[in-house]
Amino acid sequence: MIVCVCKRISDRDIARHASAGMDFDDIQFELGVATQCGRCEGCARDVVAMHREAATHHAHSQPALPLPGYRAIPIMLAAA
Ligand code: FES
Repeated sequence: MIVCVCKRISDRDIARHASAGMDFDDIQFELGVATQCGRCEGCARDVVAMHREAATHHAHSQPALPLPGYRAIPIMLAAA
């Protein structure tokens, strides 16, 4: 769905940036959303809030996993 008619920016464009951790101001600067008539600002902010909240919740609910290819290396501690 197009959120910003002036700049032809969709909710998916906004959601992708919000899920990457960008706030409204960053997204506005990056995409230009709500920089002409401004009628889309409320809807754009709602999309950002919804997806940032989801991204934050997801980040806190997932255990930290090692990156692919990561191998734990045992460390021997010498007694001083
Ligand atoms: S609809 Fe977004 S600036 Fe006009």
